[in-house]
Amino acid sequence: MQDMMKEELLSRTRRTEEIVCRFLPEEKGWQKTVLSAMNYTMKAGGKRLRPLLMDETYRMYGGQDRDLIEPFMAAIEMIHTYSLIHDDLPALDNDDYRRGRKTAHVIYGEAMAILAGDALLNYAFETASGAFNGTERDIRTARAFQVLAAKPGIYGMIGGQTADVESEGCAISMDKLLFIHKNKTAALIECAMMIGAILAGAPEKEIKMVEAIADKVGVAFQIQDDILDCTASSSQLGKPVGSDKKNEKNTYVSLVGIEQAGLDQKRLTMEAIEAFDQLSGKNDFLKELLLALTGRRY
Ligand code: IPE
Ligand code: IPE
Ligand code: MG
Ligand code: MG
Ligand code: MG
Repeated sequence: MQDMMKEELLSRTRRTEEIVCRFLPEEKGWQKTVLSAMNYTMKAGGKRLRPLLMDETYRMYGGQDRDLIEPFMAAIEMIHTYSLIHDDLPALDNDDYRRGRKTAHVIYGEAMAILAGDALLNYAFETASGAFNGTERDIRTARAFQVLAAKPGIYGMIGGQTADVESEGCAISMDKLLFIHKNKTAALIECAMMIGAILAGAPEKEIKMVEAIADKVGVAFQIQDDILDCTASSSQLGKPVGSDKKNEKNTYVSLVGIEQAGLDQKRLTMEAIEAFDQLSGKNDFLKELLLALTGRRY
């Protein structure tokens, strides 16, 4: 990554971080424990990729209303964080580290981790609903709200997680693996970028193109995650390595090997970039960011 891009990414990630954290609940009242557990994982950092992609797609189509986009940015990060807390639970991947810290269930216990995940999912909608303001733009806000509800759901992220968990220890086809990757991971990337386009008032055809681009980016992102699980260190990732092997997961690497996984990941990224160049909106930073995801080391 060029130095200028690195600096720009750092500064935009910081801005995203500040936005997301502004929407977190105060830790008080009889339900304080669940609020602390929510904030514990939310504040642990992470790349903030989904809200950043949302914001950059919004800007690409000329979006300017910060009071419209920001509640949705916080909401997608809450949903993503809930998916991580639940993904790490003993009943799912049983992992003890996340974002460089002990995972929520290790610190707060399983019951609170389950509730904190539920709470983040619910609070995401409570937060996004703050974007409705009784004006004409509510038509777009409602459409974005529908996407925020659908993509993480049974025909999206949860669908993918279901097939992922059920396939542990089984031999599965590439078709089924792609179903898993498209749903457990690409669905939230699609959600993020589509909402950016919808809220900025992009034409229908462009929204569909953005969805297709995000699908490729999301599958490539999960392939890289599978590769890093075998090649990186846990200090680099802030989460355990070798988790997939431990759980006998089907991953892109277990199906086709590391080398082919790397090639397919780069091919998907290039296809995404080619399609990105066809969009009517322009955002050079976003294009560089999508390209940089191929070589990410964490
Ligand atoms: C981890 O997502 C889960 C996957 C879908 C691979 P990220 O790699 O974006 O995790 P954070 O948000 O940076 O912690
Ligand atoms: C999880 O995929 C995707 C989610 C919906 C959370 P992984 O199980 O590979 O994610 P990590 O490696 O634990 O972050
Ligand atoms: Mg998992
Ligand atoms: Mg996992
Ligand atoms: Mg993984």
